[in-house]
Amino acid sequence: MLGRVNHIAIAVPDLATAAGSYRDVLGATVTAPQALPEHGVTVVFVELPNTKVELLEPLGEASPIASFLEKSPSGGMHHVCYEVEDILAARDRLVEGGARILGDGNPKIGAHGKPVLFLHPKDFFGTLIELEQV
Ligand code: CO
Repeated sequence: MLGRVNHIAIAVPDLATAAGSYRDVLGATVTAPQALPEHGVTVVFVELPNTKVELLEPLGEASPIASFLEKSPSGGMHHVCYEVEDILAARDRLVEGGARILGDGNPKIGAHGKPVLFLHPKDFFGTLIELEQV
């Protein structure tokens, strides 16, 4: 069911600083900031030869990463995104197996304009998993 790692996401308190650090100190290609109000985050992507790193900054008052940054004020690894071919088939299989889908259980459109779902971290060894249909 799982395909490639699409991206690894890091929550950061200040996106401009983090993007600058990846660009200028680590020498990576970084995309322009993209606000995703439906997800409560602003993102940039660090483009690497084999995958991407997503840097996330809270957007709005009900940002889902606000409590994460309260516990880890300097930032930290937030989720891993795996590709799937059919997100609804993947969801149904996961629900049947007892895994919990965050939110209302239906895919939302993610940063790449494709459907995404998040799985409860307690069902997967403390790691928040995002699935993206490609
Ligand atoms: Co993501």
